[in-house]
Amino acid sequence: MTNIKLLNKISTAGTCEFDSSTYCVGEDIQAPEAIMVRSAAMHDMEFGSELQAIARAGAGVNNIPVEKCADSGIVVFNTPGANANGVKELTVAALLMASRDIVGGIAWAGSLTENVAKSVEKGKSAFTGPEIYGKRLGVIGLGAIGIMVANAAKGLGMEVYGYDPYLSVDAAWNLSRAIHHAKSIKDIFAECDYITIHVPLTNETRGMINAESIATMRDGVRILNFARGDLVNDTDLLAALENGKVAAYVTDFINDSLLNVDGVIAIPHLGASTPESEDNCAQMAAKELIDYLENGNITNSVNL
Ligand code: MLT
Repeated sequence: MTNIKLLNKISTAGTCEFDSSTYCVGEDIQAPEAIMVRSAAMHDMEFGSELQAIARAGAGVNNIPVEKCADSGIVVFNTPGANANGVKELTVAALLMASRDIVGGIAWAGSLTENVAKSVEKGKSAFTGPEIYGKRLGVIGLGAIGIMVANAAKGLGMEVYGYDPYLSVDAAWNLSRAIHHAKSIKDIFAECDYITIHVPLTNETRGMINAESIATMRDGVRILNFARGDLVNDTDLLAALENGKVAAYVTDFINDSLLNVDGVIAIPHLGASTPESEDNCAQMAAKELIDYLENGNITNSVNL
C-alpha cells in the first residue's frame, strides 16, 4: 500500500482519485509516501525518508519548505489555476467594496432599531462611493488569477493596466488585447486608481507595497491584496490610510493590526473557499501525485 497523509481537510473529489486497493489515504497516516496539504504550516515538520512528494491544493506554497524538500528529493506540487475563478470572483467583489461603502452601509443599517426605512434614506449619504467604470486598474502579476481579474475588470468598463515581467506565452494568449501593457511596476503605481496584487510571496516580493511605493501612487488609491498578506507592509499601509493617501485596503489576509481600522476591509482568506475551487484543487493535486508515484511524471512542481 502507498500511504497518503492529509494535513488538512481535502475535498473527496481529490481523495477519491486514489484507488483504495493500492492507496491508504487519511489524516492519521504514519510514514506517508506523499502528503496533501492546504494551509497547514510545514516549515518545522520533520519528514520521513519514505516521503517522496507533497501536493499543495492551492497555488501559494509559502507554508512548505520547498528548498529543504528539493535538497531531500521531495517533489512539491501546486495547483496553478485550479482555484483562479474563485479568487477572481472575490477580487471583483473587493473592487466594488473598495469603492462603494457596502460594508459600512450594511453595518450601519443593521445597527438601526426603528423607523429603518425612513432612517436609511436620511442617513445613507454617509456611505456613497465612486463607480469603477472608466477608472484605471493596475494588475500586478498576470498568472492565472491576474489574467482573469484583468479581463473581468475590462468587462466591467475599467481601463486595465497589467504588469508582469515573467508573462508566459500561454498567459499572453488568454489576456484580452484591450489590457494595456505596463512596462514597469512604477507605471502601475503612478497611473492607477486601483491596484491589485497577484504575485507569489518570495524574498523579492515581500513588503513590495510599502511607504516608498505608496508615496509614488495616486492620492486616494485603493489597494487590493488577494495574494499573500506579507506582500504589504501593514505599518506603512496603515499610516497611508491614516493620512488619506490610500482610500481603502481590501485584503484576504486579516491580522490583529488590521482589525476595526477605518478604510480596511479584511476578509478571512476566503478567495478559494468555494466548493468548485476546493474540488478542482484537490482533484488536480491528487492526479499530480498519482502520476508522479505511478509513472514518475512531474507536472506543476515548484521545486524540481
Ligand atoms: C492559494 O494559494 O491558492 C490561495 O491563497 C487559496 C489557498 O490558500 O487555499
